[in-house]
Amino acid sequence: MKLFLLVTISLCVLYSQAIHGIVINDITVPNLVTISRNDSNDTINLDCDYELSDNEPNLLVKWFMNNKLIYQWIRGHEPAVLPYFRDFIELSKTSDEPDHEYRGLTLTNINIQLNGTYRCSVHTGAQYKSMEKDLHIVDISDDEISFNDRKVQNETHLECTVSNIFPKPILTLVSDNPNTVITMDKANVVLRENAHFDASLTAVAQNADGSDNFDCYVSFEGLPFNISAKAEADELNENADSGALNVNTQTVVNILFVIVTLLMF
Ligand SMILES: *[C@@H]1O[C@H](CO)[C@@H](O)[C@H](O)[C@H]1NC(C)=O
Ligand SMILES: *[C@@H]1O[C@H](CO)[C@@H](O)[C@H](O)[C@H]1NC(C)=O
Ligand SMILES: *[C@@H]1O[C@H](CO)[C@@H](O)[C@H](O)[C@H]1NC(C)=O
Ligand SMILES: *[C@@H]1O[C@H](CO)[C@@H](O)[C@H](O)[C@H]1NC(C)=O
Ligand SMILES: *[C@@H]1O[C@H](CO)[C@@H](O)[C@H](O)[C@H]1NC(C)=O
Repeated sequence: MKLFLLVTISLCVLYSQAIHGIVINDITVPNLVTISRNDSNDTINLDCDYELSDNEPNLLVKWFMNNKLIYQWIRGHEPAVLPYFRDFIELSKTSDEPDHEYRGLTLTNINIQLNGTYRCSVHTGAQYKSMEKDLHIVDISDDEISFNDRKVQNETHLECTVSNIFPKPILTLVSDNPNTVITMDKANVVLRENAHFDASLTAVAQNADGSDNFDCYVSFEGLPFNISAKAEADELNENADSGALNVNTQTVVNILFVIVTLLMF
């Protein structure tokens, strides 16, 4: 009798640990993708990590963006991309296992139209499970940031502008002196025709001793990412310098080539 109970209990435990239908462990959708000038990431991989109970007769995996179907795969068939999304999906095999072959996809031609909520849904004959995550795209590939601080008597007048950036920027003017009071005006934000934004912000700082270092930060609501106007300016200068260096090297090589050619004749 005891043995019988033990066997029954063990079987129950085993049974409840086996997968019933579908379990989605997680989906891979990067929370933040930045498109920047020097960025070589031209694709984003999305994956849907699920487990199925054995011998599910049917399997259908779908991906949605902002509740619109963009992709689907029926086990044993080729995956299909919805026509309006064809330019943005590169078909790629996720796995060699038949249950997982085309469960994920690769986004390509990354641009701000791909910002949104992505959902993977997994269907078997009897069941259906889904999971979704947000993909935030920040486009700083063609932006311009300018920042000015101008002393006027015992005040400093600050002005920061950013143009052609996505999504909507939040500008913040800061000082390295915690005692300096900065009075900011209301930021002016304009939506451009290309769905990017321009913004500007002015402020007055009361800093009698005049030794403050000011900066302007561009951030985005809810995103762990910001740009410092000063750092951006430094980086642009650096790039300009290395550009100049390249030109010089090239010029030297050309001159040497001319000299060598002349010497040969
Ligand atoms: C570029 O891809 C790598 C690896 O795929 C990832 O770690 C990184 O976050 C990506 N960069 C951006 C800006 O998306
Ligand atoms: C690319 O830009 C980022 C900031 O946008 C910078 O941190 C990084 O050093 C740059 N990489 C190269 C190779 O220039
Ligand atoms: C980008 O996508 C996220 C996730 O769906 C959304 O919360 C956010 O509002 C979108 N941003 C813009 C500017 O549409
Ligand atoms: C700045 O100067 C003005 C007058 O020139 C004065 O009224 C004001 O109190 C000064 N502010 C500070 C912070 O010293
Ligand atoms: C900017 O981001 C850094 C981390 O990268 C953070 O420490 C800082 O507080 C942020 N500044 C602003 C003004 O958002």
